Amino acid sequence: VVLISDPVVAAYVETMGERFRQAGHRVVSWSLASGEAAKSLDSVSALWDHLGEMRVSRSDAVMAIGGGATTDVAGFVAATWLRGVRFVNVPTTLLGMVDAAVGGKTGINTAAGKNLVGAFHPPVGVLVDLDVLTELPAAEWVNGMAEVVKAGFIADPAILELVADDPEASRQAGGRHARELIERAIRVKATVVSQDLREAGPREALNYGHTVGHAIERVSGYTVPHGHAVAAGMVFAAELARCAGRLDDVTAQRHTEVLDLVGLPTGYRSASWPELLTAMATDKKSRGGRLRFVVLDGLACPAILEAPAAADLEAAYRRMSA
Ligand SMILES: NC(=O)c1ccc[n+]([C@@H]2O[C@H](COP(=O)([O-])OP(=O)(O)OC[C@H]3O[C@@H](n4cnc5c(N)ncnc54)[C@H](O)[C@@H]3O)[C@@H](O)[C@H]2O)c1
Repeated sequence: VVLISDPVVAAYVETMGERFRQAGHRVVSWSLASGEAAKSLDSVSALWDHLGEMRVSRSDAVMAIGGGATTDVAGFVAATWLRGVRFVNVPTTLLGMVDAAVGGKTGINTAAGKNLVGAFHPPVGVLVDLDVLTELPAAEWVNGMAEVVKAGFIADPAILELVADDPEASRQAGGRHARELIERAIRVKATVVSQDLREAGPREALNYGHTVGHAIERVSGYTVPHGHAVAAGMVFAAELARCAGRLDDVTAQRHTEVLDLVGLPTGYRSASWPELLTAMATDKKSRGGRLRFVVLDGLACPAILEAPAAADLEAAYRRMSA
C-alpha cells in the first residue's frame, strides 16, 4: 500500500500505516508538499521514481490522504503508474470530502494553467473520517461549504434547510449537522458523476457558479479561495437566471441569504466586467467561444443557458459587484 499524503496530517497517516502493517501489508510512504504546491510535474516525477524503486506493481494500491491537492496529484500518479493502479482517497478537508475526492478527476497544474493535465481515474473507494477535521482551520471549512451549498441549490434543498436551522453550526467542522451536510453533498456529487463520468451531459450541473468562479480565481491570480469565488459565481448565476426570466425572485434571493449564513462572500468587487469576460472566454470549459452557464430554472432544477443577452450579463455583474 502506497500512502501519499500531505505532511499536515502526518500523525493520522502514521496511524493508518501502522494499521496496514498490523494487517500484514507492506507500506510505502511518501509525503508531498503541503497543499497546492504539491500539484506539479516535479512531484509526480519524484513519485514515479519512488514507485519504481519500491517496485510497486499492479497488485498494489495507492491511498491518498490529504486535501484536494493531495488527492488530485496522488490520483494522477495512480492513473499513470503502470497505466493505472487502484487507489483509495482519504480526504482530510471538507472540499476534499464533498468534491475533489469524489468523481474521478485527477490532475496537476502546469505553466499553461491549473488542472489542464490530468486523467479520469475513479478511486475504488473514498473513506471520509470526520475525526480528521478537528484541526482543519475554520476558513478551510467555510471554503468547502460553498460546494455543499451548491449541492443544495442544484439537487438537494434539504441542505439549505439544515444551514438555516443552525447557521452557527454550519460554519464549523464540529457542528451538529456536519455529518448530514457532508453525506448529502457527497450523495449529490456521486449520483451525478455515476451517470456521467466524463462530463458529456448531467455532470455539467456541478459547474454551477463555476464559470464566473473560475474567472474570479484567474483575475485575482488565485488569491481568492475557490469557495469564495464559487459563492460569488452562484450569486451571479442566480441573478442571470432571474433576469432571463427563468428563476423566481425568492430562490434568487435565497442564494445571498444562505451564503451569508455560512460566512461566505456574496459578491466580488475587484474586477471589471470586461476582465471577467476575457477570463471566461479562455476557460477550458467554454465551448466554441460561446458563453455557457449552468443556471436554475427553479430550486434543484439545473439547466444550461447559452449565449445570454448582454444586458442580463451586465445586470448579473452589477448585482455581484454591488
Ligand atoms: N478533482 C476534482 O474533481 C476537484 C474538485 C475540486 C477541487 N479540486 C482541487 O482540490 C484542491 C483544493 O482542495 P482543498 O481545499 O482540499 O486544498 P488543499 O489540499 O490545498 O488543502 C487546503 C489546506 O488545508 C490543509 N489541510 C488539509 N487537511 C487538513 C486537516 N485535516 N487539518 C488541517 N489542515 C489541513 C492543507 O495542507 C492545505 O494547506 C485544488 O487543487 C483543486 O483544483 C479537485
